[in-house]
Amino acid sequence: MIAAKYEATNTYVVIVGSNSGIGQVLIKQLIAYGTTIFGLDIQESSATPISDRNYYFQADSTNSNEVENVLKQIKNYTTQINGLVNLAGTILQFKPIEELSIADWNETYDISFKSCFNSCRIFMPLLKKSTGAAIVNMSSGLAFIGQLNYGPYAAGKASVISFSKTLAAETAPSIRVNTVAPGAVDTGFIYKKDGSTRFNKQLYTKMVPLGAIAKPEEISSVVLFLLSNGASHMTGQCLHVNGGASMH
Ligand SMILES: NC(=O)c1ccc[n+]([C@@H]2O[C@H](COP(=O)([O-])OP(=O)(O)OC[C@H]3O[C@@H](n4cnc5c(N)ncnc54)[C@H](O)[C@@H]3O)[C@@H](O)[C@H]2O)c1
Repeated sequence: MIAAKYEATNTYVVIVGSNSGIGQVLIKQLIAYGTTIFGLDIQESSATPISDRNYYFQADSTNSNEVENVLKQIKNYTTQINGLVNLAGTILQFKPIEELSIADWNETYDISFKSCFNSCRIFMPLLKKSTGAAIVNMSSGLAFIGQLNYGPYAAGKASVISFSKTLAAETAPSIRVNTVAPGAVDTGFIYKKDGSTRFNKQLYTKMVPLGAIAKPEEISSVVLFLLSNGASHMTGQCLHVNGGASMH
């Protein structure tokens, strides 16, 4: 089990979407606490300098065959994992629902939700073999509001929460399952190709009581807490990390 002060030793964590802005910070934090990381992402390689405790696999997490293949490779290193963090997420279409084809909908919905379902299902046997294992699934504040043009993403992230509650009930007491719902986080996710943000940064910052967009480490530190035994009595919960933008 990962210790409350994150002084983890001999722990193994799988991070799906490991090349993400949040994932890259989380990897550094976990490695500093002695954790071995198995990262999985659709992108070619991880930007994190590979240490001898940081393994990387390229795979599409919406494709169960590819995730099964990563499981096989991880089994060459360990028979059990203590943590699973699901961070894969992208928005491929910004359109009103009535303009989305079924294929458009599925593409974004699958990355937002099916990816999480696939990896929870496929890595479950390794999680079950350890004591005090934890899963952290990344949702979004957009799961709780109606926001123009975010239909399949918001629905996928709402599914992540519902799914995680069911899984928490089904896997207790051996595995804890929690979600994190961030507001805007300063990663590649919020920027368009021309470098501008997908939303009005100034307006958003004014509206947030804590007056800022989250830094990736302000989200990864909450993930770290949920993985740790500091959160040993928490399961089926969703932690909102949004500077007070919405209060639940
Ligand atoms: N940045 C924000 O404002 C924000 C807010 C709320 C929630 N989130 C969520 O946090 C998570 C991490 O996001 P981030 O902000 O670090 O964004 P990011 O854009 O840096 O990371 C997303 C990662 O997902 C990976 N990915 C996409 N499709 C994949 C697939 N099919 N298989 C495997 N990997 C895939 C990408 O390659 C990328 O590394 C995402 O789930 C995102 O939805 C982000």
